[in-house]
Amino acid sequence: MECGDKLILVVDDEKAIRESISDFLEDTGCSPDTAANGREAVEMIRSKKYDAVIVDLNMPEMDGFEVLERVAPENPNMPIIVLSGVGVIDKAVEAIRKGAWDFLSKPISSFSVLQITLNRVFERARLRAENRLYREHLEEEVRRKTAQVIEMSRSLIAAQKEIILKLGDVVETRSHETGNHVQRVSEYTYLLSKLYGMTESEALDIKLASPMHDVGKIGIPDNILNKPGDLTEEEFAVIKTHTSIGYSIFNTSELPVLKLAAEIALYHHEHWDGSGYPNGISGNNIPVSSRITTIVDVFDAVSHSRIYKDAWDIEESCSYIKANSGKMFDPELADLFINNIEQFLEIHHRFTE
Ligand SMILES: [Fe+2]
Ligand SMILES: [Fe+2]
Repeated sequence: MECGDKLILVVDDEKAIRESISDFLEDTGCSPDTAANGREAVEMIRSKKYDAVIVDLNMPEMDGFEVLERVAPENPNMPIIVLSGVGVIDKAVEAIRKGAWDFLSKPISSFSVLQITLNRVFERARLRAENRLYREHLEEEVRRKTAQVIEMSRSLIAAQKEIILKLGDVVETRSHETGNHVQRVSEYTYLLSKLYGMTESEALDIKLASPMHDVGKIGIPDNILNKPGDLTEEEFAVIKTHTSIGYSIFNTSELPVLKLAAEIALYHHEHWDGSGYPNGISGNNIPVSSRITTIVDVFDAVSHSRIYKDAWDIEESCSYIKANSGKMFDPELADLFINNIEQFLEIHHRFTE
């Protein structure tokens, strides 16, 4: 037997048996300890780490069953071999149920049986330890990889957000709109979506997509886009195409957030009563993402100065929203906006230009 310096506890009330087993173990290179009863054995097991315990079931002072009950649950990885009288197989089965790894019949006729049994339990203990290590390693690896994936998607989302805002900025700059317009529209749409009862992820999608509502202005000639005076009918017709241009920029994308951006770009000038453009659709036929963006886009436009107009004060801006509820705007959304104006004004002040 390959015993190495394994520490084995032999527990038997019969001194002769204790000693003969102990002698045999010493001969094979193990380091045996002995205990004459269960009580002593339990104390020793609790104070020292044994590689295996061989314990007699039938002892006057605390029998082997009680030893098993006390130490097996605390030491699930320590092999315990029980010694039972010949012919009392029921007892051996009961011991196995209580946590014994194997059993031997007394008297031990040949030590080779003990040797085989010990080899068997040591092999099992080794496999269990290996398995445990593998599992721990695997769990650690899964934890590490999961953290990596989370970090990766976090930075991807951050990058996506930044690119989108920058794109909105480009349009903003080109059309000489007020600074931070797209940033405010983004924050406003998120707030209004939440107030409307959307889930966090739906609201976040709109927050991400709404800054690109005017991206189609990229396709509008400068002299029309930045004309300070009134537009002719033809010029206005050209301006209107920024909705469908924006749509065609994003609609072919596979990314859901860009699909949403396409939808918002196309419909953000539609009016609740059907008087908007490009399609003149009305009511709930206009996607809610666009109905939300329309209100906050208009509110932000009127409450800040533009090349063609001065800024209105907040009261005037709110009156405009109220006056157009049910006309330009979804009345339910307009009510939500007005009833929670303090929260919107917090954003208005946070992102001043
Ligand atoms: Fe627009
Ligand atoms: Fe806008």
